[in-house]
Amino acid sequence: MKKYRWGIIGTGRIAHSFAEALKGVENASLYAVGSRNLQKAEDFANKHGFEKSYGSYAELAADPDIDIVYIATPMASHYADSMLCINSGRNVLCEKSLALNTAQAEEMINTARNKGIFFMEAMWMKCRPVYRKAMEWLSSGKIGKVHYVKADLCTFTPYNKNDRLFAPECGGGALLDLGVYPITFAADIFGDTPEEIISFANISRDVDISNSVTLKYHNGVAVLQSGFELLGSNRALISGENGSIVFDEWFHCTSGVTLYDSFGKKLNVRIYLR
Ligand SMILES: NC(=O)c1ccc[n+]([C@@H]2O[C@H](COP(=O)([O-])OP(=O)(O)OC[C@H]3O[C@@H](n4cnc5c(N)ncnc54)[C@H](OP(=O)(O)O)[C@@H]3O)[C@@H](O)[C@H]2O)c1
Repeated sequence: MKKYRWGIIGTGRIAHSFAEALKGVENASLYAVGSRNLQKAEDFANKHGFEKSYGSYAELAADPDIDIVYIATPMASHYADSMLCINSGRNVLCEKSLALNTAQAEEMINTARNKGIFFMEAMWMKCRPVYRKAMEWLSSGKIGKVHYVKADLCTFTPYNKNDRLFAPECGGGALLDLGVYPITFAADIFGDTPEEIISFANISRDVDISNSVTLKYHNGVAVLQSGFELLGSNRALISGENGSIVFDEWFHCTSGVTLYDSFGKKLNVRIYLR
């Protein structure tokens, strides 16, 4: 079996979780880590058992022995870090949200396409068994035509001026950090071209700490919310003409999903162990 040599860019919270997870992947080899600071890269490499450490992202991107790079930097760096890797001929798995705006995302995707590079947003929600089961129920017509989606994702994260979540220069704010999940959810069901978008944001200290987004499609409506410093239901609902599907709390990574008929009777409950 071919072992893919992974490189990681950025040594923050999710990079550690990702490195831990990679250890359980049979065809993955923990190869290299790049940080803006060599000591941080070396500490990360020693902790997780990576072969190489680099004191800059450019040095990591230039290593021809890397099969794929996982980018775990703040949103505002994704464009530059992805373009660096793609232009160096590296395949890329980039954390969400992929980019700050459409122009950046289109350029990243087009450059990767033109160079024949694998390029993917690390939208883990779509890879999870619960999500796939729900999509299978949908495509096999279990609830008929979908006309309504509701999803919210909120965390009670107190303000911290040193956290990227609250730093506009890092691409902070609830929409890019959390809202990407409900929006991806709705787009997967209704498509990515709503006819109308109505949105409001509560801006505090230069980032949106909460927001609501309503997407109107020709065949339905999605009502979505995300926020910091806020308690949400964190569930998701897909409602169709013959029934509905409800995702348990923390819908983007939950273990449970339930199928109901149109009278609210449970037809199927699926629980997947993490
Ligand atoms: N899939 C998920 O469940 C999940 C969960 C959490 C986060 N994420 C995503 O992962 C990315 C990173 O999140 P995180 O929570 O790991 O962030 P974090 O703890 O702040 O770490 C980000 C890392 O990026 C590097 N970096 C580069 N430019 C930076 C800058 N201007 N300011 C701060 N750090 C900078 C730093 O590594 P060096 O100093 O080593 O260069 C830093 O350690 C985000 O895009 C986030 O949306 C995904």
